[in-house]
Amino acid sequence: MLITRHAEARTVLDDPRYVPPPVPQDGREGTLAWLRAHVSRFSTGDPHDRRRRAVVERLASLDPAELRSAARAMTLERGGEWRRVPTEVLGAALGVKDTAAVPVAASGYLSGEGSPEADAAVATLLDQADLPTVTLLLQAYAATEGLIENTLKHAATSVDVEALLHETLRHDPPLKASRRLDTRTGDEVTIDLVAANRDPGVFADPDRFDPSRGRTPHLTFGYGIRPCPAPDHALALAAGVLEGLL
Ligand code: HEM
Repeated sequence: MLITRHAEARTVLDDPRYVPPPVPQDGREGTLAWLRAHVSRFSTGDPHDRRRRAVVERLASLDPAELRSAARAMTLERGGEWRRVPTEVLGAALGVKDTAAVPVAASGYLSGEGSPEADAAVATLLDQADLPTVTLLLQAYAATEGLIENTLKHAATSVDVEALLHETLRHDPPLKASRRLDTRTGDEVTIDLVAANRDPGVFADPDRFDPSRGRTPHLTFGYGIRPCPAPDHALALAAGVLEGLL
């Protein structure tokens, strides 16, 4: 089933009967498959609550304002070479010195597509940090870089970095869909975030990119039972990079 309306998307995301499609639980310890079997993102019920609490606790030790100024400074220092800046800033704040393995480990994190390279990258990260910390680095990587990339396409429309980011999150979300399994029927449900964020019943003139909208009830950071726990951190990292660039 495909969900495109904003209200229906919120209903599904707020109903415990819908869970993330389960991932294989038999991966060898320290591999990408093992990691996916142990992170909050793909778990439900008590394990999800426990694992989510651990990442939220870790996030609470980070100050978004510091992430923002560090991201700005690093972007300026590198003459605008901003790729990897969010990951390095987040890694430094989390005490992870070498984040070079993050892109390779992250490449199969959502899809589950494993490879010896991805397993080696996960092992390198787990040598340096605990699971909640590695989870944060992997969750943050593609979404934050995607947000920056998409925002840069609209940079000419406003000088207000926050306004650009909020409207980009609605209009061009870096993650296009969320999937759930209906535990009663066994059906898979796909929530089309692009469509829900342009629901004409919620957003006037929805296809128009309009930074003057400010904050909107877009669903890009999720909603309900398991929304992204780090929207402030994501925005801070992206805003810092953009300040260094624009
Ligand atoms: C633009 C950037 C980001 C976007 C759009 C985004 C979006 C999301 C969404 C939609 C989910 C929920 C997925 C679902 O419902 O199944 C999620 C989960 C999560 N995000 Fe983000 N995220 C971003 C950046 C970050 C950053 C920077 C961090 C960490 C510093 C982070 C950490 C997490 C974690 C740990 C989860 C799993 C939560 C759970 O399982 O309960 N995200 N994110």
